[in-house]
Amino acid sequence: MTSRYDAVYADWRRDPEGFWAKAAQDIDWTRRWDKVLDGSNPPHYRWFPGAALNTCHNALDRHVDSGRGDQAALIYDSPVTGTKRRYSYRQLRDAVARLAGALAAEGVKAGDRVIIYMPMVPEAAMAMLACARIGAVHSVVFGGFAANELATRIDDSKPVVVLSASCGIEPGRVVAYKPLLDGAIELAKHKPKSCLILQRVEGPCALVAGRDKDWNEAVAKAKPAECVPVAATDPLYILYTSGTTGQPKGIVRDNGGHAVALYWSMKNLYGMKPGEVYWAASDVGWVVGHSYIVYAPLIYGCTTVLYEGKPVGTPDAGAFWRVISEHKVAAMFTAPTAFRAIRRDDPNGELIRKYDLSGFRTLFLAGERCDPPTLDWAEKQLQVPVVDHWWQTETGWAIVGNCVGLGLLPVKPGSATKPMPGYDIRVLDAQSQEVKRGDIGAIVVKLPLPPSCFPTLWNADRRYRDAYMNEFPGYYKTGDAGYQDADGYVFVMTRTDDVINVAGHRLSTGAMEEVLAAHPDVAECAVVGVEDQLKGQVPLGFLVLKAGVSRPDQRIVDEVVKLVRERIGPVAFFKVAAVVKRLPKTRSGKILRGTMQKIAEGQDYKAPATIDDPAILPEIAEALRAVGYARGRMA
Ligand code: COA
Ligand code: AMP
Repeated sequence: MTSRYDAVYADWRRDPEGFWAKAAQDIDWTRRWDKVLDGSNPPHYRWFPGAALNTCHNALDRHVDSGRGDQAALIYDSPVTGTKRRYSYRQLRDAVARLAGALAAEGVKAGDRVIIYMPMVPEAAMAMLACARIGAVHSVVFGGFAANELATRIDDSKPVVVLSASCGIEPGRVVAYKPLLDGAIELAKHKPKSCLILQRVEGPCALVAGRDKDWNEAVAKAKPAECVPVAATDPLYILYTSGTTGQPKGIVRDNGGHAVALYWSMKNLYGMKPGEVYWAASDVGWVVGHSYIVYAPLIYGCTTVLYEGKPVGTPDAGAFWRVISEHKVAAMFTAPTAFRAIRRDDPNGELIRKYDLSGFRTLFLAGERCDPPTLDWAEKQLQVPVVDHWWQTETGWAIVGNCVGLGLLPVKPGSATKPMPGYDIRVLDAQSQEVKRGDIGAIVVKLPLPPSCFPTLWNADRRYRDAYMNEFPGYYKTGDAGYQDADGYVFVMTRTDDVINVAGHRLSTGAMEEVLAAHPDVAECAVVGVEDQLKGQVPLGFLVLKAGVSRPDQRIVDEVVKLVRERIGPVAFFKVAAVVKRLPKTRSGKILRGTMQKIAEGQDYKAPATIDDPAILPEIAEALRAVGYARGRMA
């Protein structure tokens, strides 16, 4: 099939508002918009002002009303607990309505915030939808974050209620969530009125009298709540993501534009049909989980799979193939790191051949750069198209991709292919001038951003403009660098800030540096992301100790490793640090993190012309050698 991509992209270019107004017809509205786009307050553009809808109605009730009531809406597959459960659209709607009733009974109203700190259980998806049902704004916090990170989010979003569970399950260990939640509430200045706690048999917990309630008891007592229409521009959720400091950024997602863009993407990008099974093997704590485990598949009328397990070790590297064949998954979405893990354990794909994958059509990868060897391996083993696509928490859906529903364009390994309609991509130099095709620069998107993209940061309009909009006026700075080739294919190469990507998880080295700097023996520190064969990148720390510290270096390193785990969480995967005498800096005092990264990665490196003292670099290489890292050569 020849691709209709160029024609569709040209349609959008010709009449952007007409394009999205047409796409919006696939959504149920209780009130039509006054205009499609409000551009009166740039860069805060608003989609579908004046319109009203309910996202939960669009995800559940309307499908029950139109005859999908008995179709599976959600399949829960949990190898870590040995559980499989199916919820029809009707069952899911009823469960969500009751949970929404329980929230209302706790005093939650439209516009109030609710924090969701949950493992990968169906109740996590129900919690999100229940908030949407009554117009409350949810903020899901990933389970791999520690109490301190949760506390920061509690203080920023000020939830009325927290929804949580007694524990999560990681291969080989039960992670008690409740002590983390209790610790976070203790640390936070804002105190939620109550917590609903889902007791799991794998690790029940004690409830705090007067504050905590048993989830199931609260739901059993509740009256089902109806869907409350909200403005298209009202927030559906806040999702915190890593920025350059320890203070995460609260990405705001609205209701109307989000529903429109996600519906469009299911049909045109993912090439799905309502009724088919779609699986995003991610976590509800990340944007992929929000958009493609919960909202998009349900808004579109697909069956979604919620998988509580890993690509390997639960029980083996055939886990994904088992899920695909057992639940008849048509398309799956995961991060390249998951495929690197599978390939490491099953290099010849022998486990793939054990399963019937005849109904499986497409593999989608995102979350980090898709390295060509991983792409090649996945294509050869699965014999289906493997589609890389690039997006961010800020956008909620793909910026660049290859539209299966419009007919695939030829794949160029290393490229996520072409911009989605709605995105006018440019590559700029430091003077905001467009670079030549093929040259690397900052990847930006000409404003306005399309529906679903964040209109602001929670309670931080100014930070929104400073962090994203001011450096290149008229454009959204993505924070990624790369190039566009002569055919318009976009190659995303690296971040331009101190965000790193560890096993598909977005983390801030700045936040880790704040933790290291808090150790009493540390005078100065730096954290860089170093290439890793499995995880893409892993953090590596450098510590300069205070004068007079005589305790063994290793003890201090062990302490800072523990500190990062306690303050940020195990997901940061901060395991190695080197003690050095000094950090390499420019004459103006800027730490040369890029050079340290090159030394650690074994790349050839040159002392930058601005370096204060080039003699430091061999010292860094030596210290890294001592912790098994330095392979770099002075060029
Ligand atoms: N709750 C508590 N702890 C968690 C957690 C959670 N929800 N998720 C991860 N962790 C912990 C892990 O137990 C591990 O702790 P450890 O250092 O004590 O072993 C640590 O955080 C790192 O976890 P993870 O990143 O999962 O690494 P891993 O080595 O266990 O597994 C992969 C590696 C590649 C299999 C795994 O990272 C993976 O499946 N990645 C895909 C990521 C993804 O889907 N990203 C979303 C974008 S699409
Ligand atoms: P997150 O907000 O957690 O989804 O992370 C977004 C970041 O992950 C992007 O800014 C990129 O740095 C990286 N990323 C996501 N998808 C891709 C991709 N397909 N190719 C390259 N980098 C990607």
